[in-house]
Amino acid sequence: MSKCLVVFLVIIADLSECKKLPASFKKCSRNDNQCLTLSIKDALEQLTVPIKEVGLPSLDPLEIPALSIGAGTGPVQFNQNYKNFKIYGFTKVESINATLTENILKIDLHVLETLSDFEYEVDGKILIFPIKGKGTGMITVDKPEFILTFNLEEYEKEGEKYLKVINKTLSIKPQKMHFEFSNDLFGGDKEFTNIVKTAMNENWKDIYADVGPSYEEAYGQIFMSIFNNLLSKVPISELFNS
Ligand SMILES: *[C@@H]1O[C@H](CO)[C@@H](O)[C@H](O)[C@H]1NC(C)=O
Ligand SMILES: *[C@@H]1O[C@H](CO)[C@@H](O)[C@H](O)[C@H]1NC(C)=O
Repeated sequence: MSKCLVVFLVIIADLSECKKLPASFKKCSRNDNQCLTLSIKDALEQLTVPIKEVGLPSLDPLEIPALSIGAGTGPVQFNQNYKNFKIYGFTKVESINATLTENILKIDLHVLETLSDFEYEVDGKILIFPIKGKGTGMITVDKPEFILTFNLEEYEKEGEKYLKVINKTLSIKPQKMHFEFSNDLFGGDKEFTNIVKTAMNENWKDIYADVGPSYEEAYGQIFMSIFNNLLSKVPISELFNS
């Protein structure tokens, strides 16, 4: 019998601790990267709904109530304040490779596309255009690749060993980006909105080069906290086959 059951019986008040992986998740031994890759792919594909018992939110869409990204140093000269930011597409896995060596988890994930929709408020400059306004927008990213590295550390809680992510790096490589905004952008001037939209879509690479690192940082933090939620609930003995 696993130690979880013992904890369950002894500390009835602490039911939230020491969870098992959901039965629908494939369990692997710690050094089987082929299994791990399939298991993570499989888990991602299930996350069109939250799995509350292990603290995992839906990833498709992944809902971020508020997201702030600072101004860039190039074409994007404004603070980006988004509300109701929703990202669709993380479960549409095209290919994935995951490796766990020592305490470093690397995930190389390609998805078909991500689509974000959001409410925004801007006041600043993009490319050569002064902009000010608020509305709704959408960003489509074609075939992005996410290269994620988590550094993990073991610790002990109530006699069980757990993992947590202590730092991360994330690199996102889009093949193409497309921006769409409601036409009430820029004080309701439709024509100007279209000019700016066209310029942004033609210059997406410059825009991404400017603010991409801030998005990588923000998304990296989000992925880290989602994964840490799971890791804080499921001990190592339940994460892997021994
Ligand atoms: C997966 O990544 C590892 C380490 O980055 C690499 O050695 C391996 O060849 C990759 N496997 C596949 C199937 O791409
Ligand atoms: C992350 O943590 C590991 C282990 O403490 C350390 O070796 C590595 O340099 C850190 N990486 C970053 C980017 O901070």
